[in-house]
Amino acid sequence: MISKNISVNEAGHLCFAGQDVCDLAERFGTPLYLLDEDRIRENCRLYKTAFAESFGEKAAPAYASKAASFVHMYRVMREEEMCIDVVSSGEIFTAVKAGFPMERAFFHSNNKTDADILYAMDAGVGYFVVDGEDELVRLSELASARGAVQKILLRVTPGIDPHTYEAVNTGMVDSKFGVAIETGQARELVKLTLTLDGVSLEGVHCHVGSQVFDEDVYQRTADIMLPFLAQMRDEFGFTAKILNFGGGYGVPYVQSDGTVDIRARIGEVAAHMKALCESLSMELPFFVMEPGRSIVADAGLTVYRVGAVKRIPGYKNYVSVDGGMTDNPRYALYGSKYTVLHGDKANEPADFLCDLVGRCCESGDIIQPKICLPASTARGDLVCVCTTGAYNYSMASNYNRIPRPPVVMLRDGGAFEAVRRETFADLTALDL
Ligand code: LLP
Repeated sequence: MISKNISVNEAGHLCFAGQDVCDLAERFGTPLYLLDEDRIRENCRLYKTAFAESFGEKAAPAYASKAASFVHMYRVMREEEMCIDVVSSGEIFTAVKAGFPMERAFFHSNNKTDADILYAMDAGVGYFVVDGEDELVRLSELASARGAVQKILLRVTPGIDPHTYEAVNTGMVDSKFGVAIETGQARELVKLTLTLDGVSLEGVHCHVGSQVFDEDVYQRTADIMLPFLAQMRDEFGFTAKILNFGGGYGVPYVQSDGTVDIRARIGEVAAHMKALCESLSMELPFFVMEPGRSIVADAGLTVYRVGAVKRIPGYKNYVSVDGGMTDNPRYALYGSKYTVLHGDKANEPADFLCDLVGRCCESGDIIQPKICLPASTARGDLVCVCTTGAYNYSMASNYNRIPRPPVVMLRDGGAFEAVRRETFADLTALDL
């Protein structure tokens, strides 16, 4: 199985986190997002342990909450004593509602409005990750006006190609995010920051990309970032307290993806950074990473009910389900791969080649092309898409006025709704 929380029981039903998906579909309806809370907590602990082993006290993982953002998720992060990354006032609002201690939050975005800046300061956000000069100057003005000093990191682009897909490649010099080291703009921004009131420069941030498998990406990042910090020390007498490398470790969606041994990788990154710091005669700053996908992706499974099976002899076959690009736009957007399994005939040979498609009124509404399901697949059956915990619920839409599915958490053998199913009334709630 693609993930160790998936199994098959004697009835031939797929089980997720030890629970029969047919029972869960019966109880909560379909389409249905399942999230294995135990797995999310395990993933958090994996990072925490790896960080502690490799960096001691001087490191912390921050969950990138854009991967899956709702109140209960922030409660889990609070209980696991994680830091978080937030990217909008909406995420801040949700985290605050969960009672998350906002001093452990890093606030991103390449375009924070004045309202966002004020809202985040009111919420007590620990660190702004400042994306550029416009934001820096405005934050300085707004913080000074209220007699506050906001802690910040500057987001810089190290010019690293992490070899992932283009839409999530962010560390290159021509990125929408951050200021480039190569062009000298990052140096200028550090210099400017040190002259401004209302902001306290705590360190720097970079994020090279998402779904990263390349073994040495973070070593290459360190090779740029640490000498940059040494240069800032030598030129401006500035010592960075925090170095944040953003998110990115990849997760397997299909068997051929391979896996990342996160604990081992973090150990290698730490060793590399320590040696580099020694050669630069600098102390290693407090190290932060912002994993999103690798915390929640394999904790997710989406359950759909089959509506139509269409065979076009000599051409192709379609299996249509009761969800689609509205609950999972990732194939439509990025061509993302997924493993698809039958929910109630999980023991039958899967030799019926088909495209798994949704119910939206457009041909691009494909969840996954060219998958295999049992030949007996028919209306009323359940089909499950694996590894949907990250960037599915958080990217869902109401296109075609389709209500979003509930998010059901599986914990200690039990199940409860963390987000309820949208109703038709919800769909018109904003219409005047
Ligand atoms: N930190 C920053 C500043 C980020 O921009 C991101 C992701 C992360 C951390 C978390 O990266 P992760 O560990 O999840 O790879 N919607 C796309 C992914 C967009 C990622 C955006 N930034 C997808 O569905 O693949």
